Amino acid sequence: MPEKFKAIVIDNQNEKFSRKIEELDTSSLKDGNVLVKVDYSDLNYKDALILNNGAKIVKKYPFVPGIDFSGTVVNSEDKKFKEGDRVILTGFRVGEIYFGGFSGYAKVDSSFLVKSPNNISNLQSMMMGTAGLTALLCAFAVESKEKLLMGSKIKEVLVTGATGGVGSIAIMILSKMGYNVHAATGKKDKNEYLKELGAKNIIDRNEFSGESKLLEKGMWDGVVDTVGGESLTKILAQTNPGGVVAACGNAGGIKINTNVMPFIIRGVKLWGIDSSAASMKRREFVWNEGSNLIDFKKLEKLTKEVNLKELLETFPKMLKGETFGRILVNPNK
Ligand SMILES: NC(=O)c1ccc[n+]([C@@H]2O[C@H](COP(=O)([O-])OP(=O)(O)OC[C@H]3O[C@@H](n4cnc5c(N)ncnc54)[C@H](OP(=O)(O)O)[C@@H]3O)[C@@H](O)[C@H]2O)c1
Repeated sequence: MPEKFKAIVIDNQNEKFSRKIEELDTSSLKDGNVLVKVDYSDLNYKDALILNNGAKIVKKYPFVPGIDFSGTVVNSEDKKFKEGDRVILTGFRVGEIYFGGFSGYAKVDSSFLVKSPNNISNLQSMMMGTAGLTALLCAFAVESKEKLLMGSKIKEVLVTGATGGVGSIAIMILSKMGYNVHAATGKKDKNEYLKELGAKNIIDRNEFSGESKLLEKGMWDGVVDTVGGESLTKILAQTNPGGVVAACGNAGGIKINTNVMPFIIRGVKLWGIDSSAASMKRREFVWNEGSNLIDFKKLEKLTKEVNLKELLETFPKMLKGETFGRILVNPNK
């Protein structure tokens, strides 16, 4: 018997883009082999771009966006999952080419689902979502300077786009790892917020704009960069020998105009992060490790819960850089 539920549906009939909340039923979910009752989703920058105009990512309309969700399995054609299992979905192009999580139910391929660790609730996993997974992947990349690559001890670490979802969680994780975290932000009124997350020092993001020398004074042993563009050029030139720059975002621009000196004189590593395509093995490792590195009480304070209607009012603010922290989406409210 099909269940009815609410979902955000975007459409692009005759080149006219629209978004609204519609009532669907589970028989309209055609992809995948596991049906999940969605408890929570969340708003990521990519979701905001897709909600805005499809971002040239969505090709098939009408479409249900939402790149993340957590929930409970209702039925599964794959023995790996059974009714009642709690699951997490992030990425794998769900919410881009497959119907996503801004919805009361979702149906996806079993190979995309992670069984939720016992010590993380469905609410907590979406307070993290793709942003949290990405922040963890970035933090492990930074940590590899010391661990995997057996380099000198990491002291100073820079996080850009500091008040954003990825940036905020990265600050929490890196300070928990014991590093001095420097937070680069464009928001002058968020110093207290960033300090509470664990930042030792706040830097105005304008300090990373303008011409960069081939090499500048070395300052960072590790960097989590969510901004890209012009500032990444300068940051690479300011990275200490052997330092790792984990590049995951483009909130400030797509192009970088760098030179080989940071790489061949200082052995700087530019480490690209793509959370959407991370292997299942890595996801399971990261989600399990995550619970030791995330202070969920702190994370709760930086998370705002919205329903589907409020989500439609919130995403334009994210595109203008006016949001901070995490936006949790409750599709059943
Ligand atoms: N590679 C991956 O797997 C992956 C996964 C998740 C996200 N991402 C990317 O990472 C970035 C951050 O994602 P998010 O979900 O954290 O987004 P978010 O919550 O919107 O955070 C982005 C932050 O970047 C800063 N920012 C915004 N516009 C800027 C500009 N023009 N110049 C410089 N800084 C700007 C702002 O922080 P301040 O005001 O504090 O400066 C903003 O809060 C996005 O580009 C997203 O696409 C990539």
